[in-house]
Amino acid sequence: MTAGNTTILDEPEHRFPLDMSMRAPRIHELYAASNRSQWDPRTDVDWDALRPEEIPEANREAARLWWSRRGWGEYGAVSESPALIVRFYRDRLPPEVLQYFAIRSQEEARHAEACVLMAEKLGGWIEQPEIQEFETAVSTHGVRSMALDPDTSVEAIMGALVCCLEEYAFDWFRLMVETTTHPVANRVLKLIMRDEVRHCAFGWYWLESRVPHMSADEIKRVERAAIATTEQVELTGYRVPWLAPDSEATRRENEIDRLTFEAGLGATVEEVEAPVFVACVQRVRERFRPLGIELPQFRHPRLGAF
Ligand SMILES: [Fe+2]
Ligand SMILES: [Fe+2]
Repeated sequence: MTAGNTTILDEPEHRFPLDMSMRAPRIHELYAASNRSQWDPRTDVDWDALRPEEIPEANREAARLWWSRRGWGEYGAVSESPALIVRFYRDRLPPEVLQYFAIRSQEEARHAEACVLMAEKLGGWIEQPEIQEFETAVSTHGVRSMALDPDTSVEAIMGALVCCLEEYAFDWFRLMVETTTHPVANRVLKLIMRDEVRHCAFGWYWLESRVPHMSADEIKRVERAAIATTEQVELTGYRVPWLAPDSEATRRENEIDRLTFEAGLGATVEEVEAPVFVACVQRVRERFRPLGIELPQFRHPRLGAF
């Protein structure tokens, strides 16, 4: 993706003039909302209500792995945030965007901590995937290289990562909040979801404010990034294993999700999520359309054309 391996880190840093006038008031509102809605994973969850001895062994072990896996994802979001902030700074985006993104990183850190605490309660944090094949799926979806690549615009990054991937993830969280019956797991999912709604709003606000100033070619690039990410990341099972190509590893991951879901401890399963996911893609497609971004009909072996 990066031409000649040159990244924005190879460019000289220009710090001044530093324009601190407010240019993105809607994003400032998100920043203020984040400041008002801080929570502490250690004290805002009634951890004593999670009594692992009451959970059947197989479900508890599955949930332990599922929450560890969530933690790997959330921690990944923490680790990629600084690259995006470096990029926003280099592109001289409004100060509200950087301020908001700094607090957004803090929220992802909180999500990671909550997932670690869940895994610990369920029998212990698991540090890494046992199946190599799955590791590539969880380790990265190229955010850092996109963020530092001068040929990929911030709008393309937002369109792909936030308006697509985070939006798909948001509906997943909302579904899990509806279906997760264990009060502690439900509470953690709800706390995470409350932050994620702002993460998604941020991407849309930014993109919608930028599109009127973009050329047709620049908008086309956002479209290409959104399609590529949906097809190559989302539809290959980066977020949930039921979307991944069938393999021994996928079957094992699906089993973990099912056992977690059946115990009301989180996760979801294909038959419950598929219609929600298809509806979500449709909503994203409709929100993109007035911006001149057209998501095509997608195809997936388990979903057909949608
Ligand atoms: Fe998160
Ligand atoms: Fe997020």
